[in-house]
Amino acid sequence: MKPRRILVLHGPNLNMLGSREPGHYGHRTLAEIDQELIALGDQLGAEITTFQSNHEGELVEHIQQAGMAGSEGRVDGIVINPAAYTHTSVALRDALLAAKIPFVEVHLSNIHRRESFRHQSMLADVALAVIAGFGPASYTLALRGLIELLSSQQGA
Ligand code: DQA
Repeated sequence: MKPRRILVLHGPNLNMLGSREPGHYGHRTLAEIDQELIALGDQLGAEITTFQSNHEGELVEHIQQAGMAGSEGRVDGIVINPAAYTHTSVALRDALLAAKIPFVEVHLSNIHRRESFRHQSMLADVALAVIAGFGPASYTLALRGLIELLSSQQGA
């Protein structure tokens, strides 16, 4: 069977993980998190591509690329931590809807235990699932869940 292709997207300031507000986000770096996801993908038969950007438009372009029908880059699912864009970005929401790729929204911190402006997500109601509050494990739980859901949907 062809390996599933999963795109992992990280939004602004997540390149600073490790040193950024460790009380909220822990001590692990983004590179460490990405490595773990790639290794987990290997175990679960999924090919993982990761991308981080501090620019909304770059994230939109990656989603558009990921959704191109029949293209090399077409992916089966997306794990996305939109970071601050979670709370503001109609553009990311629209891009994900247009790409028609099932996605899981991920947060390291439990956004509902934090400031009220973080309680709103522009993506959550169109996401397959949302995982928040487990630190870096939010990503691995999201990846496992996404692969399992894709498998059950395709009867594979
Ligand atoms: C975050 C939560 C957001 O509110 C914040 O802007 C981030 C990270 C998280 O992973 O907990 O940058 O998405």
